[in-house]
Amino acid sequence: MTSTPPVSAATLALHPGSDDRRPGSPFLAGPVFASAYHLPGDPAGVKYQYGRFDNPTWSALEDIIGKLESGHALTFPSGMAATAAVLTPFVSPGDTIVLPEDGYFATRAYAQTFVARFGVTVRLVPTSQMQDADFAGVRLVFVETPSNPRLDVVDIEALAAKVHAAGALLVVDNTTATVLSQAPLRHGADITVASDTKAFNGHSDVVFGHVAVRSDEHLALVRQWRTLSGSIPGPMEAWLVHRGLATLDLRLARQSDNALAVARLLAGHRSVSMVRYPGLPEDPSFEIAQRQMRYSGAVIGFELVDGDAAQRFLATCGMLFEATSFGGVHSTAERRTRWGSDGVSDAFIRFSAGCEATDDLVGAVGRALDGL
Ligand SMILES: Cc1ncc(COP(=O)(O)O)c(C=O)c1O
Repeated sequence: MTSTPPVSAATLALHPGSDDRRPGSPFLAGPVFASAYHLPGDPAGVKYQYGRFDNPTWSALEDIIGKLESGHALTFPSGMAATAAVLTPFVSPGDTIVLPEDGYFATRAYAQTFVARFGVTVRLVPTSQMQDADFAGVRLVFVETPSNPRLDVVDIEALAAKVHAAGALLVVDNTTATVLSQAPLRHGADITVASDTKAFNGHSDVVFGHVAVRSDEHLALVRQWRTLSGSIPGPMEAWLVHRGLATLDLRLARQSDNALAVARLLAGHRSVSMVRYPGLPEDPSFEIAQRQMRYSGAVIGFELVDGDAAQRFLATCGMLFEATSFGGVHSTAERRTRWGSDGVSDAFIRFSAGCEATDDLVGAVGRALDGL
C-alpha cells in the first residue's frame, strides 16, 4: 500500500476520492442510477439497500466534502433542501430561532411560512448586528457569511463562542464563500449548509446542496430527515458536482482576482455611489474576511445613481449575463429589487465575477460605466 502525503484542501478537492487504482479503473467512477440493489436475506449491514436510503455516487461526493469541511457531509437536491434539512429537524414547538434579516430571502420565507407554523418563534437580526445580539433562550442561530447580497462578513469563531454560551447551535450558510475559502466547522460552527448550485458546482447547470455537521448525533438526525422526507439528490447531479469540484480552487482564484479588479474600478468611478466587496481594504468586512477567508470571492454589491442607470448598465455591458444566480464561470449581474425582497435600493446591482480574462471583463465594465 502506498502512503498518502498530507495535502491542502485545494489538492484534496481535485482528487476523485476513490482509492481504486487497479489498472483499467477510472479516476472518478460514473454515476450509479440504481433505485434497487441486490439485497437477499437480512439487509442489516448492507450499505446500499434502496435508492432513497443511500447511493454510491452520493457517498463518493459526501466523503470528499466531509473531509474538506472537517466533518460529515450529506448531499441534497438544492441549497434550500439543505437549509430545510436543518431548520426542520433541529427545532421543536416553543423554540426560538434567529435568522438574518438581510440574507437569502427564501431561508426567511421557509422559516416564517412553515417552521413558524409548528410553534417556533422566528427572530430576525441584521447580519451586521448578529455579533451584538442577545441569544438567551434561543435554540438555533443561522447566519450567512458573507451575506447575500449585502456582503457583511461575520466573525464565525467569536459568534460561535457567544451562541454556545447561550446553549444554542450555530448554523452557517457557506454558499457565497464555499468550503475552499472558509470551513465554518473549523471556526466553531456546529452545522454548515451550502447551495452548491453556486460557485461550488460553478457551471450553471446543476441545482444542488449539502449539509455538513461535526457530531455523529447530528449526522444521524439529518440523514433520518433526508430518508423520511425523500429530499434526495439525483445521481447525475451528484456526479456533475463532484466533477466540478476538481476546478473549484482554480475558479475561486480567477473569480476573486476578477472581482477585486472590478471592485477597484467601481470604487474609483464617478457613476458609482457605493461598493461592497470583502476584498477591498476600505470595506467594513475586509479585516475579518482577511482572517477568515482564503478568497474574497466572486460577488460584489454596488449602487449606481438610480434604477434606470442600473438597468442601462446591465443592458449595455456585453460581457454580463443578466441572471439571478452567482458564483458561476460566466459573469452575471442583476438588480435585486426586481424580486422586491432584499432590503436594497433600486440602484443596487449584485455582480458575480466569472472566469473571463481579467482585462476583457474590466474593459467591458468600464465601457458600460463610462457610457452611462
Ligand atoms: C446564500 C444562499 N443560500 C441558499 C440558497 C438556496 O440555494 P438553491 O437555489 O440551490 O436552493 C441561495 C440561492 O440563491 C443562496 O444565495
